[in-house]
Amino acid sequence: MGKLQRIGVLTGGGDCPGLNAVIRAVTKTAIFQHGLEVYGIFDGFLGLIENRMQPLTWQSVSNILTQGGTILGTSNKANPERFMTGKDASGEPIFSDVTEKVVNNVRSNKLDAIVVIGGDGTMSCAHQIIRRGIPCIGVPKTIDNDLMYCDVTFGFFTAVQTACDALDRIHTTASSHQRIMLVETMGRNAGWLALHAGMAGGADIILLPEIPFDIQLISRFCQDRFKSGKKFTIITVSEGAKPIGGQVVVDRIVKDSFEAIRLGGISNQLALQIESQTGIECRSTILGHVQRGGSPIAFDRILATQYGHKAIELLAKEQFNQLVIYRNGQIDTVPIAEVANRQRLVSLDHPLLLSAEDIGVCLGKP
Ligand code: F6P
Repeated sequence: MGKLQRIGVLTGGGDCPGLNAVIRAVTKTAIFQHGLEVYGIFDGFLGLIENRMQPLTWQSVSNILTQGGTILGTSNKANPERFMTGKDASGEPIFSDVTEKVVNNVRSNKLDAIVVIGGDGTMSCAHQIIRRGIPCIGVPKTIDNDLMYCDVTFGFFTAVQTACDALDRIHTTASSHQRIMLVETMGRNAGWLALHAGMAGGADIILLPEIPFDIQLISRFCQDRFKSGKKFTIITVSEGAKPIGGQVVVDRIVKDSFEAIRLGGISNQLALQIESQTGIECRSTILGHVQRGGSPIAFDRILATQYGHKAIELLAKEQFNQLVIYRNGQIDTVPIAEVANRQRLVSLDHPLLLSAEDIGVCLGKP
């Protein structure tokens, strides 16, 4: 391919704190260290499908380190291989493969490579265009922290902090009213967010998608606490948690989205069941998108900057098609092909789970 001259950068999938910090680091490193031209692609892969992008300068990325969201916009409905191009007579979406269009737009804009900032869905899209000969570098974003081989995605610990702040507030009102309070976190099928927020916020019960729960056992745990003088109980429940032999609670289906199922509402169902089994008043709070918003905490600003910087260093060395990761305490890489369409879940022997059990946190199982 000759020497790299112009690159594109996009943010895909659900947003999270720290996206702008990566865009800034990518742009500044590319311009200051390698004299590259940088194009910001709007709304993730949608911008590549619709050919919408504009040059980024160091001035245009100045002052965005602390900003939440993404100055480029994002989309979780723009999978090039399965893009909604219309609806049939019964209102059902019609999907088409528009990968060729994406490849043509990359080539006509003379983009030599793309920095793709996203989660597992976005990395699968990156993998599609890599197979068509477009060099990419992936940067791992998601509050779910569920990208394969990556110990920490940027945005995750800001979401943990937001959920933890909420738990601290819930704690005081739970104590005043002597209630059982459930706090539902996001995370899809991975329990990282619920586990970390629950541990940081001192939850008494933590329910994860990886460990189907026993509702009778949870109710008994709350009653035993009540009898022993602890008149309130805090439960952190992941949106993907489900009872033994039961199903997840689906909030909605977004047909044209990469991952159609949106989870949500398990805490409401649990509150009703636990209240009727224990006789203790229950309330639930679904934290929702508040976990995705706001300014990144210092850790995520630093991690995002390191990720963005590393992405450009890899491009400059023509080490293409890698995902930048943080593993075993350092920035590392793994081929995007190895992470596409895969998800990292909490393993049942994870040290934080063991600590939780040893300090008496109930995980919903015997
Ligand atoms: O993947 C990030 C995430 O926030 C999940 O935790 C959550 O299940 C989902 O996205 C929500 O998606 P949307 O923003 O489309 O409601």
